[in-house]
Amino acid sequence: MDIATFENSFLNLPSPLEEIYGPLWQDQQIRLFLKRDDLIHQTVSGNKWRKLKEYIQIAQDNPKKGIISFGGAYSNHLYALAYVCHQLKIPSIGIVRGDELNESSNPYLKQIHQWGMKLHFLDRKAYQKKEVHSIDNMNDYWVIPEGGYSNFGISGIREIVLEIENKISSDYIISAVGTGTTVIGLAKYSSSNIVGILCLNNKIEIQNHLQDLSLDLPNLILKEDYVQGKYAKSNPALDAFCENFKAQHQIAIEPTYTGKMMLGVYDLLKKKYFPTGSTLICIHTGGVK
Ligand SMILES: Cc1ncc(COP(=O)(O)O)c(C=O)c1O
Repeated sequence: MDIATFENSFLNLPSPLEEIYGPLWQDQQIRLFLKRDDLIHQTVSGNKWRKLKEYIQIAQDNPKKGIISFGGAYSNHLYALAYVCHQLKIPSIGIVRGDELNESSNPYLKQIHQWGMKLHFLDRKAYQKKEVHSIDNMNDYWVIPEGGYSNFGISGIREIVLEIENKISSDYIISAVGTGTTVIGLAKYSSSNIVGILCLNNKIEIQNHLQDLSLDLPNLILKEDYVQGKYAKSNPALDAFCENFKAQHQIAIEPTYTGKMMLGVYDLLKKKYFPTGSTLICIHTGGVK
């Protein structure tokens, strides 16, 4: 199956743009929209397809032995990649952080394995250095960096910008930040202000990425006040926020990425950060499993 057939048969693209309502922003004459990339597909949800698409295209056009990528035990990225490779019949290997794990350590790894992705488990030190001795020649494969971070990943984000611009003109586009691929792509291809809500303490890493890529993006604003401790660690207030948001808007968000983003947006709205009359687009990058 080629990419166009996969998109047409399986994916809900362009993803919907939905306005949500609440006095916190309506009192400031602010309009707030969610770009529902979480509705693109149950498994290839959120920003995953955007970041993977160009790699998959390259792997299909110039076949190697397959695709290799990296992730933690609950990686949304590996999960989506395994599914896409299964559908498109591309051999895939996942390098997983943690040599104490195996193919049945959790339901996600089990499912990934069932989709045919071969899993290699590395201890944390080797994983950090990406030292994979169990694979003879990595150059025989297309290697996608952890989380889809790369120029190809960044360039895939352009489609989100085009889909938004086709519908509405925005003052701010807001997204959760992990590797930074999504916000860098948004800032590169959009002339709106891009607000990235950091979900882990990696601002310096993102700034280094920008330097490495020789990208000067004055429209990219990174907010580091909403990390709330460690990556992927929730707390009762954040959990309650996610639950209340779902009850009010019938849209599920989760504490690792989109919950932190929306909490950040609500806080910025309370602080009157956005000028009166602004139009805000928050990217729902998925992650609700
Ligand atoms: C659900 C979700 N939202 C946001 C992000 C952050 O995206 P990025 O790594 O492009 O910064 C990720 C990580 O890929 C994610 O899984």
